[in-house]
Amino acid sequence: MKNKIVIITGANSGIGKAATLRFAREGYKVIMACRDIEISRKCQAEIIKITNNHLVELMELDVSSSESIQRFCSIFRSRYHQLDILIHNAAYFNHGQPYRRSQDGVELTFATNVFGPFLMTSLLYNELKKSEDPRILHAGSNIIKHFLDPKTKIDLSHLLTNNIPDSFSVYKMYAQSKMALTLLTFKMAEAFKQDGINVNALQINGAKMSKRTLRKIKPWWRLIARVQNLFFPDPAYMADKYFKICTSENFRNTTGKLFNDKLEIMQPAPKQYPGFIKQVKQVLGSHVYPAYDEVTGVTLDLWGLCNTFVSEAKDLNPNNQ
Ligand SMILES: NC(=O)c1ccc[n+]([C@@H]2O[C@H](COP(=O)([O-])OP(=O)(O)OC[C@H]3O[C@@H](n4cnc5c(N)ncnc54)[C@H](OP(=O)(O)O)[C@@H]3O)[C@@H](O)[C@H]2O)c1
Repeated sequence: MKNKIVIITGANSGIGKAATLRFAREGYKVIMACRDIEISRKCQAEIIKITNNHLVELMELDVSSSESIQRFCSIFRSRYHQLDILIHNAAYFNHGQPYRRSQDGVELTFATNVFGPFLMTSLLYNELKKSEDPRILHAGSNIIKHFLDPKTKIDLSHLLTNNIPDSFSVYKMYAQSKMALTLLTFKMAEAFKQDGINVNALQINGAKMSKRTLRKIKPWWRLIARVQNLFFPDPAYMADKYFKICTSENFRNTTGKLFNDKLEIMQPAPKQYPGFIKQVKQVLGSHVYPAYDEVTGVTLDLWGLCNTFVSEAKDLNPNNQ
């Protein structure tokens, strides 16, 4: 596997770190795309020591910043001609924090979880196209189940403007951003099919959070997360799913799908209200996802916003493209 290159964002912690370890063990060239270089360097050294794979490389990336993404991609292109696997694992979910904007002035949850990954994919598109089996994976979340309730909506109105929504919570924004990422997975898969690039998402139900991650969230949320940690699997469990979705021959022709953690392909929930018992089963199970777009047609608006973000980013930093 020494000639296969994989980029993993947020590779210094949790599932991203476990996935780096997994790919490195299998002999892949892994690029850890991380923003905190000091902490990540220790993590890189640890992974090289465990796996004896010296192809594990660390590159700086703040996925909420278009300038950082463009710098990362231009350095990547100057070193490598192709990219085989791109895993968008990094995410902002610091529950309890107030409304924050990225360097680009975009709400931070969407900047990190949606617009940044979209820009990165678009800047690495040509390198992905050169791989004989290119695969992109988005880290999704079971938080999108909130969208089984038809009152739950993605509010696009404030994303690329100076407006601040009347009520704000990172938790709600996180749910919206993961729903948006899921919808974009389907749309990207359609658009990238002509170039043979597969795009899928994994619905993550939970993975134990590290002490460092717990420290980022406010006390009340931290308490909930600590309790969840008692029941959640180790990050290596989800990392194994990343690995299989991105490498298994069984999924070579699979694109535009949302996987559950059993690696089954999830289906859109029926549009009509299924009745109380069935809805409880939908919420507790991992077989259906909310057919949110079929009701709202929001994907096209999202697609438009993402493309606007990409062209504005390119205009702002033309030298880094
Ligand atoms: N754990 C769960 O229960 C759970 C449930 C559902 C979905 N997920 C999803 O699974 C993925 C991994 O989560 P995890 O539990 O492994 O969390 P984690 O241990 O906190 O890891 C998140 C990683 O993202 C990085 N990151 C955040 N903002 C970034 C930015 N602007 N630029 C670059 N890197 C950034 C963090 O880097 P720093 O160290 O620099 O902060 C960290 O390495 C996420 O997409 C998350 O939404 C997790």
